[in-house]
Parts: sequence; C-alpha cells; structure tokens
Amino acid sequence: MPALIVALDVPGLREAAGLVECLRPVTCWFKIGPVLFVREGPAVVRMVHDAGGHVFLDLKLHDIPQSAAGGVVAAAELGAALVTVHCAGGETMLRAAAAAARPAAGRMAVLGVTRLTSEAGRVAGSVLRAARLAQDAGLDGVTAAVAECARIKAACGQAFRVLTPAIRPAGGPAHDQARVATPAAAVRAGSDYLVVGRPITAATDPVAAARAVAAEMEAAGGASGPVTGSQMPVRR
Ligand code: C5P
Repeated sequence: MPALIVALDVPGLREAAGLVECLRPVTCWFKIGPVLFVREGPAVVRMVHDAGGHVFLDLKLHDIPQSAAGGVVAAAELGAALVTVHCAGGETMLRAAAAAARPAAGRMAVLGVTRLTSEAGRVAGSVLRAARLAQDAGLDGVTAAVAECARIKAACGQAFRVLTPAIRPAGGPAHDQARVATPAAAVRAGSDYLVVGRPITAATDPVAAARAVAAEMEAAGGASGPVTGSQMPVRR
C-alpha cells in the first residue's frame, strides 16, 4: 500500500505545524526539506513526531563518504524514517551511507536520488543505472519519476522501494517539475511513496486537496484503508 507524503515546503515551523495539525487525519507522513530544516533544525522533526507523524528527511546528501555517512547517522539519531542521499555521489559514498544506516535498520530507510523530477529530457537510462548502483550499494530504494517506476521495479525487484515526487492532479500546474504524473498513475506504476507538495500546501483548502489525492490513490487500487501508517522502512 503506497503512502502519501506531504512535502512541508513552507518557510517556518509555525506554518509547518499548522499544516501537520490539519493534515494528520489524512496522512501521517511529512517531508522536511533543506529550507525548513536549515531554518528550524531538529525542532521541526520533533514537531512532526509529537503529532504522531513519520519524517522523510529529504536532504539529498551528496558529499565525501565520511560526511554523507555522518549525515545519515545524524538523521537516524533524529528519528527520521526516510532519508535521501544523491546517487551521483558514487558507489563508495552510497556504500558508506548504507553502512551508516545499518544500526537503524527497520526504523529508517535510505533512498538514493536518481535524477531530479525537475530535469527534462531523456533520463530513463541514467535513472535505471543509478537505481542499480543504489541497490548494489545496499540502499533500500530510490526516488524517481513515475514514468521510471515500473522499470526500476522490474530491474531491482518489488521490495526495492521507489518514492515518486512530481505528483500532480490531472490538469494541475506542473510548476518547476518536468516529469509529472497523476496520483492514480503513480499507484498503478507501483510507487511505494507519493510525495505531494504544492498541489496540497498551496491549495486554498489543503485538507480537501489532500483528501482528493488520497481518494484518487484508493480508487486506483493502492490503498484498502486510510493512506496513513503504511510503508514503514523495512531493511532487506
Ligand atoms: O511541490 P511539489 O509537489 O513539486 O514538491 C515535490 C517535493 O518533492 C519537493 O519538496 C522536492 O524537493 C521533492 N523532490 C523532488 N524530486 C526528487 C526528490 C524530491 O521534487 N527527485
């Protein structure tokens, strides 16, 4: 059953807490990215935890192996359930990140960013190579566009997690995303986690927008119950 993750791409703790409070009945997964984390730090992670939510800490770490591994250890100490490292960091960095997450196995999964969903053009080949590299290095899964999801699952197996951002309700604006897809298409492609930001957070009524996404996911066959609480990290 895929999980709906709402991206808290808002300027500060106060706005993020307001969103978490009103969206908690719809989902328990929230994404914290660099803007919010640099500004507010661990307090914003604690806020989500205090609300009973799970944190996807999307820092897309890309550094020398020791620094990337240190970031993964710190994310585990904060209680993040998902953390990202960039596949472009290469095999040694990815192996270091996977090793650093081992003590947190079952509590936190590490996903490799293949290619950003804002990148246009022919990226399918490099996405698949990045996914294979991430799997060989011991990561739990990758982030990719919906268009690449089925191919990654076919190549790496169903247990290898695929998180798909750039989700847009049919007819909605793409903003700065290039490779977008609807919630239903993401579910049908086998995505494990759907990340949705502006279509929910910039909506006049974020709760109604989130409920509409959740309903589309359920209708597409992705969820037999509420889209909350699914997809806790499992390490193979
Ligand atoms: O507002 P929108 O729905 O486009 O937000 C998508 C979120 O997913 C953003 O927070 C962005 O940082 C994140 N993301 C992405 N592409 C990736 C990985 C994460 O857009 N490959």
